[in-house]
Amino acid sequence: MSKSLDYDNKLILAPMVRINHLPTRLLSLDYGADIVYSEEIIDFKILTSRRRENEILGTVDYELPDGTVIFRTCPREEGRLVFQLGTADAKRALKAAQKLENDITVLDVNMGCPQPFSLQGGMGAALLRKPEKVKDILSTLVKGLKIPVSCKIRILPKLEDTIKLVKIIESTGVCAIAVHGRTIDERPRHANQNHVIKAIKQAVKIPVIANGGSKEILCYEDIAKFKEETGADSVMIARAAEWNPSIFRKEGKLPIEDVIKQHVRYALKYDINAISAKYCILQIMHTSMDMAEGQPMLDCKHMVEICDIWKMEDEFKATQELLTKKRAEEMEEESH
Ligand code: FNR
Repeated sequence: MSKSLDYDNKLILAPMVRINHLPTRLLSLDYGADIVYSEEIIDFKILTSRRRENEILGTVDYELPDGTVIFRTCPREEGRLVFQLGTADAKRALKAAQKLENDITVLDVNMGCPQPFSLQGGMGAALLRKPEKVKDILSTLVKGLKIPVSCKIRILPKLEDTIKLVKIIESTGVCAIAVHGRTIDERPRHANQNHVIKAIKQAVKIPVIANGGSKEILCYEDIAKFKEETGADSVMIARAAEWNPSIFRKEGKLPIEDVIKQHVRYALKYDINAISAKYCILQIMHTSMDMAEGQPMLDCKHMVEICDIWKMEDEFKATQELLTKKRAEEMEEESH
């Protein structure tokens, strides 16, 4: 049986560190995304974490020894969640992925991150220059896991090298490949090389997911244009969704106040810390910091303050009461 997800004409939330926590992923699904990626989490972290079923929140959590939750998922994501792993080593990647595989739909390997910490660790875009390692990591994961495996790459400066690389990737049995149409040295201000994504699509049989088009994706209709220009099977969006996840809505984007309130609702429901929620909200507000809520958002530190700013005090109180009640019930059960 071939292991895959359906990548035909799907809208996909791209992986984004610090942005793709559970509220962003759920909001994106609500607004019309078909598939959502986690942020990149490196194999070491997964291996040092403890898996815990959180009955109070109805989630599965991966917690570091100090109690920090590095990954939280809930049943709503079933069948649509791609977990992105950062790795430089096949055996370690497999061990981490095996720990995760019952809680995720697809395991993706990040081969595109140009940040120094990734490159120095031989991870992310460092892999693009090491085809043997790419082959080793991906084929080890494909053979060792019950779930499908995919990867996300950037392009290389020469088209022929990029095509060679994607053919090697295809030969490992991955279910799809996401392509950000920029090289390691190119920044967001450089044009995305849509023609290279098109050439990749023509060179392989596995589904190709086009990425890198956010600068031109200002409304829902632009997503189809990007798909057409790249000839890809599906489109993956990062920054346009970071700024307003309702970009996935067929009916058009919603005002940012509505989106922020929904984000806060999920942050409350899933007990997300104020630092994470604040960071995501500030990205949504990035061009609107002159709003009355702008300065208070920069100054706030706690969820109760965030709720005050967005006039959600009642919802804050109600969710706190519910969580306190559930915690008390759980303690009562444990004491019996
Ligand atoms: C990213 N990107 C990224 N890529 C990846 O493979 N793993 C990751 O964890 C991250 N993290 C991340 C954080 C933030 C804040 C941004 C803006 C981007 C890259 C991202 O997935 C995507 O490839 C690029 O942003 C290009 O796509 P867009 O933005 O043009 O749709």
